[in-house]
Formats: sequence, structure tokens, C-alpha cells
Amino acid sequence: MKSVLLLLAAALSTARGVLPTPISDETMVPPYQLPDPLVCQDGTPVQTAEIWRAKRRPELLRLFTEEMYGRTLLGRPDTMRFVVREELPAARGGAATRLRVGILFAGTEDGPQMELLVYLPNHVTGKVPVFLGLNFDGNHTTTTEPDLPVPGHWAMGLFGNKMENHRPKESGRGVHQHLWPYAYLLEHGYGVATAGYGEIEPDEKREPSSAALPNSPRTLAPAASPADWGTIGVWAWGLSRALDYLEIHPRVDAKKVAVHGFSRLGKTALWAGAQDERFALVISNGSGCGGAALSKRIFGETVRHLTTNLPYWFAGNLAKYSDHEPELPVDQHELLALIAPRPVLVTSGTTDTWADPKGEFLSVFHASPVWKLFGHQGFQGTEMPAPSVFVPGRLSYFLRPGGHDVTLEDWQAMVRFADLHFKP
Ligand code: GCU
Repeated sequence: MKSVLLLLAAALSTARGVLPTPISDETMVPPYQLPDPLVCQDGTPVQTAEIWRAKRRPELLRLFTEEMYGRTLLGRPDTMRFVVREELPAARGGAATRLRVGILFAGTEDGPQMELLVYLPNHVTGKVPVFLGLNFDGNHTTTTEPDLPVPGHWAMGLFGNKMENHRPKESGRGVHQHLWPYAYLLEHGYGVATAGYGEIEPDEKREPSSAALPNSPRTLAPAASPADWGTIGVWAWGLSRALDYLEIHPRVDAKKVAVHGFSRLGKTALWAGAQDERFALVISNGSGCGGAALSKRIFGETVRHLTTNLPYWFAGNLAKYSDHEPELPVDQHELLALIAPRPVLVTSGTTDTWADPKGEFLSVFHASPVWKLFGHQGFQGTEMPAPSVFVPGRLSYFLRPGGHDVTLEDWQAMVRFADLHFKP
């Protein structure tokens, strides 16, 4: 009954053009059906890893591409160049080597680019595994080190970091260091690499939603159809270009690069990991709708919210499923499945209802059959883990007490997970 009322309310709000109030009460979730990752669209069951790789995985990748994130229209540009702008052998009191690397997508200093900030632990000899993720407000917000330049690119202004016109300022230095516990990661033998997502492409609403902004790599390959890339696709492409650099650094173990991201950047990390199989491990934190959370569950943020408020993040085609989630040919457990059999960890905060922690867990749970197909255990258990309980395995879910954030507790789970797979 409750769900009928809810559907009526949704229909009314659609008619009035008002966004529906997100569901935050479990008893109000309407019934839904998930597609089976192990059944092809033509009904063929997927009984072997070979059929998965040859038929079902390409089919799902195409569906996510065309219906959700859009075609990534650019590969690695032939003209792309890396410029090491700085290499400090004894940064952070001697604990790390710090690099600032300009990744010039079109080969020119005045063209589209991003600056990758890299730290490598000095106490480890040999190659190190690396955590790679984008940041919201510029590299200087991730650390208090005074000699890191304040960037000139667009930045978001996360967690009250005040800026005018989205221009980073000196006052933002170190404001997001809790999201980036460099000392902790370096001590544990990990390298870290990050870049400001707004340098790849600003996170600004635009019409048409597929339009590239000046100096975006998308100007090299503009979207021309509603199946072409949105901004998440561009940011994910940037992560692959960062990996191109990490691959050539002699101290990086490029076979052990974990791509991770928080919130919209969690959606981005999952999409990057799904497309680029060089990423050895993938982690999303509070990625929510369009990330790890199931779309058909209609809890918290929905496709309608996304395509109304943030249409430019996705392929134009996603709008077809606004209030029509049952018609989506995929759901987000299948996005996770595209990463199989590589390790995946999804984390949520207990009170982050907008991102739907339970929908994120269910996505992990329902992706399990694909890991099993490869002879691995899927998610170990049948229930959502209690807060703060770490569940080992190749496919894992971690629930942290608290809201929309990434805290040291998330990082401790992330390091534990990476240790399991990178340092067995
Ligand atoms: C908004 C958006 C979410 C997104 C979040 C974030 O809340 O609706 O989909 O994950 O921003 O990136 O912080």
C-alpha cells in the first residue's frame, strides 16, 4: 500500500515538474527486479568465465557505455607528454619522494592537462603499490606542505572550503587532509597519486549537457550523440592517463595500482575500473546513485535526481530512465561485476541515506555470482555487515559509522583490503 502511495506521489510530482522527496524509509521501497548478470540479453546463460569474457562482459560494458556513462571517445593521445615539474627526494621530513608531474594531454603546456601529485615511501626498496584517486579542490588541499603551488584550475569547494568562482586559494591549503592520510599510507608502504578533478574538466552544469568546456580533453573528441561521454567519462579517462604515467615510473608497481574515489569521484573510480583493466583493485566510498548503489531500488537519490540536477555527468541517454528505472537494462551490481575477478571494495557511511548504504551493499552481494564464476568466493556472508566490521575477500563491503565522508576508519579498511591482495 505504502509503495502504491509512493508511486502516486512520484507520478504527481513528475506531472508538476517537482523532484520527488527521496525515500529514506526502508518500508517504502517499491518492489523491484534486478537483471541477472549471468544471463545474456538473448537469454543465454553464462556458465563459464570464457562466455562471460567473450559475450556477457562486452554486452554489459556496451550497455553501461551507451545508456549510462557514454562512449569514451578518446584513447591515449599520441601527442600526450609527461613533464616532471618537480622531484623532491626528501619530502615530508624525508619519509617520501614527492613528484609533481604535468600530464599534457595534447602535448602542449597551454592545452588540456592535469598535474599529478605523487608520493612514494622512501623506506621501501623496490617497487611500491599505489593508491590513485582524484581530489575535489586541488592538490594543495590534500596536504599542509607550504611549498605546493595553489593551482589555477576550477575546483569544487567541498566541505565548506570557501572560494570565489571556484578558484582555489591559499586558505584552502590542507583543508581536506583528513581525506588524504598520506603519512599513514606511506608508513604502510603505499605510494599515493592524486590530481584535481576540476583540472581535467570543471564540474559545471551546461546545456547541452554533453558540451565540453574550454580546455577539456573532450574538445579533442567532442560528444556528438546521447550515447557519448559525460563528465564522469572524462574524469575516468583522466584516471587512465594518470595510470599511463605511473606505468613508466621505475619505483611504481603498475600491476598494483588501486583506483579509488569518494562520492561523484567514487562513481568515476568504478567506471574507470570497469573500462580499464589495468587497474588492479577498485574502491568506491559513498558513491551512491550512478555509482555502487542499485538504481532500481529507488532509495535516496534516484536516476531522476541525477538526470535533473547533474545531467552532464552522464550520457544523454540516461534521461530515458528517469522515473523509468525498471526499464534500465542493467543495474549497478553489474557495474561492479565488470571489474571481476579483480578485487573490489565498496564503503558507505551508516547515516549517508542519500547514497543508500544498503543499496550499495546489495549491489556487492548481487555481484557475487560473477566472482564465483572465476572460482573465487563472492561476498562472504548473506547479511549487510555491522558497522566497523571488515569482511575479507575479493569482493567486500565496509560500513563506517557516520555520514558522507572518507575518514581514517575508511582508509584503515582500504589498506587492510589492499594488503590482502597486494601483499598476501
Ligand atoms: C551530490 C550528488 C551525488 C554525489 C554527491 C557528491 O549529492 O547528488 O550523486 O555523489 O553530490 O559527489 O558529493
